[in-house]
Amino acid sequence: MNTIKHTPAMGWNSWNTFSEKIDEELLRSSADAIVSLGLRDAGYEYVVIDDCWSLKRRGSKGDLVADPAKFPSGMKALADYIHGKGLKFGIYSCAGTRTCADYPASFEHEFQDAETFASWGVDYLKYDYCFKPAGIPGNVLYRRMNAALRNCGRPILFSACNWGADNVYEWIRTTGAHSFRSTGDIQDNWTSVEKLFKSQIGKEPYTGAYCHSDLDMLIVGMKGRSENSWIALGGCTDEEYRTHFSLWAIYGSPLMIGCDIRNMSDATKETLMNKDVIAINQDAECRGAYCVPQWNNPEQAMTMVKPLSDGGYALCMVNFGDAPSQVSVQFWDIGLTSSQHKGLSLYDCWSHEDIGAFADGYADTIAPHACRLFRGKVVDI
Ligand code: GLA
Repeated sequence: MNTIKHTPAMGWNSWNTFSEKIDEELLRSSADAIVSLGLRDAGYEYVVIDDCWSLKRRGSKGDLVADPAKFPSGMKALADYIHGKGLKFGIYSCAGTRTCADYPASFEHEFQDAETFASWGVDYLKYDYCFKPAGIPGNVLYRRMNAALRNCGRPILFSACNWGADNVYEWIRTTGAHSFRSTGDIQDNWTSVEKLFKSQIGKEPYTGAYCHSDLDMLIVGMKGRSENSWIALGGCTDEEYRTHFSLWAIYGSPLMIGCDIRNMSDATKETLMNKDVIAINQDAECRGAYCVPQWNNPEQAMTMVKPLSDGGYALCMVNFGDAPSQVSVQFWDIGLTSSQHKGLSLYDCWSHEDIGAFADGYADTIAPHACRLFRGKVVDI
């Protein structure tokens, strides 16, 4: 029985901040913080260990072995701890011969590894694409792991990660994956947010229920802190993190926190726990957001529009540029005509207020790297 929810996954992943420096104490204290800070109640449920958790070689029976120096109590005990907190446990492997950080990966061990994961109580598998044999198509490798996961006796969310390579959009849904990384690796700076997000504009038809386009883990709250100097590059302002979160949410990306949740500022908590933004991400129909470019500044200013299951729309007016820009959305562009007396009443998801009903459109001057995120309801005007 498939008990995996059809909306984007939410949780925390160790990679962005900790990379190779992971151990069971980090995982336990992060799970504790998810519960005590209210993140679990806000919807974050998966606690995921990324790369570097195993020994560099498989055991004598070909099994993956958790590194006893990092996980002395073993993975089953860690999973039990995480489950005891009302959370779910995720782990990482790779479709190639080695993982991206050069640990053993699952090529030709798919069924064996899925059984190992199930015996530990794993609920989520991130599945990477490094060291992939060139002669075997990616869709075959993801189908293989899907077959293994679907038959291991436990529901395991299958989070594919091939960075948008090999036209993944065209085949990923057929593999059974629940999400697919559509972008390369994120870095903790605005340039990376802009580059990753813009690379997915126009590809919104490929995301949807049970197979979401994953724009990569969130950098919200990292503030340049990471064990990984390539990711740490720069940091963002709180405003930039809000824009990043708004964009990932409206696009329908999984929301996997990447900062150290045990040391979050109030601004970071407020961003990550904004219920109105999360509700847009978790909308039951899971439609992708399309882009309405700003007519006089189309490269930098735009409104992303996501049709919602209640008949309304989420609208994110964003300015990627370095100078303030006008952003205006004509409701004509989203299917509403004032000649037929239809307009939108707008609720601001960051100030949490209704700002009124509008007939033909809405315009504002948006600060650099900022956005406004609205929930719009169709009204008679
Ligand atoms: C790849 C993935 C990252 C991370 C690392 C781990 O680069 O895209 O998200 O999992 O591998 O080595």
